[in-house]
Amino acid sequence: MPERIAADFLPDTLPDNPMHLVDAWLSAARDANFLPNPNAMTLATSEDGRPAARIVLCKGFDAEAGIVDFYTNYESAKGRVIDAHPEVALVFHWDHQSRQVRIEGLALRAPAEQSDAYFASRPRKSQLGAWASAQSQPIDSRDAMLARFESAAAEHGGDSVERPPHWGGYRVWARACELWVEGAGRVHDRARFERELTVAGDTVATGAWQGSRLQP
Ligand SMILES: Cc1cc2nc3c(=O)[nH]c(=O)nc-3n(C[C@H](O)[C@H](O)[C@H](O)COP(=O)(O)O)c2cc1C
Repeated sequence: MPERIAADFLPDTLPDNPMHLVDAWLSAARDANFLPNPNAMTLATSEDGRPAARIVLCKGFDAEAGIVDFYTNYESAKGRVIDAHPEVALVFHWDHQSRQVRIEGLALRAPAEQSDAYFASRPRKSQLGAWASAQSQPIDSRDAMLARFESAAAEHGGDSVERPPHWGGYRVWARACELWVEGAGRVHDRARFERELTVAGDTVATGAWQGSRLQP
């Protein structure tokens, strides 16, 4: 049984940019080599007041810019909702380190070159899976799904697999970030940081982070 680690509380003087601490916590979770998916995060979306949440993997983290990347099928349930309602929330929970991170922000499609580069780095089976799966659509049976995978494999033969146009990355520009560390007697340590995001075409301008400690 892996041991729980008593995590340090947040610094008395809160950092100017909380995302550097998130980056360090993510690295610490990766270093704990008993976690199968240290980069797993809950992604919550919302449409017409109906929230939905699922796990995705964090595949890029830019602490300075405050951006978190994940990859998915753009025509999946989440992809369709995000394109229409880009405000999302993310949660990381590293139980063994008594840490939680909550991020809220704007999810925008990653540049095609970034998605191409990440897709090219994936194992071939995962690449074929991206072609085979019309993610979130019904299918009659598991055998029918495996048959779709086999036909994607046959279509590509031994050739390299290009990125499907319906598959790629999202970049979540953090507007808010909350750091949480468990404390004895439920006296946890929390701090919430916020900043302005201004979208202009394909670019996002960011204001300075403002942080404050919160009661747990
Ligand atoms: C550990 C774990 C990692 C996952 N990583 C991803 C991921 O990176 N991208 C993805 O599209 N789905 C991922 N999934 C599957 C999603 O949770 C979800 O089932 C799928 O994306 C369909 O969601 P949707 O119908 O809401 O679009 C992962 C699931 C688990 C349990």
